[in-house]
Amino acid sequence: MSRSDQKPRVVVTRTLPQAVHDRLSALYDTELNVSDLPLTKVDLIRAFQSADAVVTTVSDRIDASVLNGPGIRARMIANVGVGFSNIDTQAAENASIVVSNTPDVLTEATADIALLLILASTRRAYAAEQLLRQGNWAGFSIVAGLGAGVQGKTLGIIGMGRIGQATARRAALGLGMKVVFYNRSTVQGLDFKAEQLTSIEDVMTRADVVSLHIPGGGAKPPIDRALLALMKPTAHLVNTARGDVIDEEALIDALETGQIAGAGLDVFAHEPTIPERLKALTNVTLLPHVGSATLEVRTAMGMLAADNLEAFFAGREMPSRVV
Ligand code: DGY
Repeated sequence: MSRSDQKPRVVVTRTLPQAVHDRLSALYDTELNVSDLPLTKVDLIRAFQSADAVVTTVSDRIDASVLNGPGIRARMIANVGVGFSNIDTQAAENASIVVSNTPDVLTEATADIALLLILASTRRAYAAEQLLRQGNWAGFSIVAGLGAGVQGKTLGIIGMGRIGQATARRAALGLGMKVVFYNRSTVQGLDFKAEQLTSIEDVMTRADVVSLHIPGGGAKPPIDRALLALMKPTAHLVNTARGDVIDEEALIDALETGQIAGAGLDVFAHEPTIPERLKALTNVTLLPHVGSATLEVRTAMGMLAADNLEAFFAGREMPSRVV
């Protein structure tokens, strides 16, 4: 059989839902990772040397040391995730490797988790559950464990893209919150009431809850110590975007000293390592990067990655190409 008769070879770095495995295995010479253990750097390089396309995700660091090595065969990266800051897109472009992501299909699920964290943080859900699980609940009390209500309070969205809008819509229409937001470009045509402010500083100053929806991968965290210092002492911060969009040390300091009231975090600067100081705090709710973690959504993400692969190998326009 000549090379052109052979099925394209695809390496999948992590376990995907079964329906996605079935589809990929039917179409390609597919190497799956049923152990779901993250690949080492050496394994990643081997994947790029042996495959025509590699299906990656947020836990794979695909940088120049992977893409610019000798004997790289892969011409496409199908990233399972809307965020693609795990990939050095400049290095991919230099190596003539195209990259796709999986937008839209996870918008509502991720906004659900942002809402969950807004409520968990303001209603002190973690501290309350810990009290109960540790056997320290003395019974109902009118005045113990009081949180803060959100009705009529102000939600500040940083980054009013798809997930920012879905979060704001839930808060405005479902919780009765006022919404202010910062976005680099003007946002129009929203189907709920929201006020666009001209700076991140204004949002940090005015909001009772700040929710972050900006991409990661920058040289420095855009939400730094100075911006955190502008928040009200009663305010809460929610991050479902990427851990590196905020100065994690500064956030921990702000939570420890009561400079802000609480936080709900689904993403961290050095996943899966979580600073001990953060874990020790009772005014934070910590989730292990589960924004899009429903079977339906993870399957849809895998299927969109498969759509991109099929389009790439057929020479068609890919549904969600980023490089
Ligand atoms: C995303 O899609 O970016 C999620 O965070 C999972 O990577």
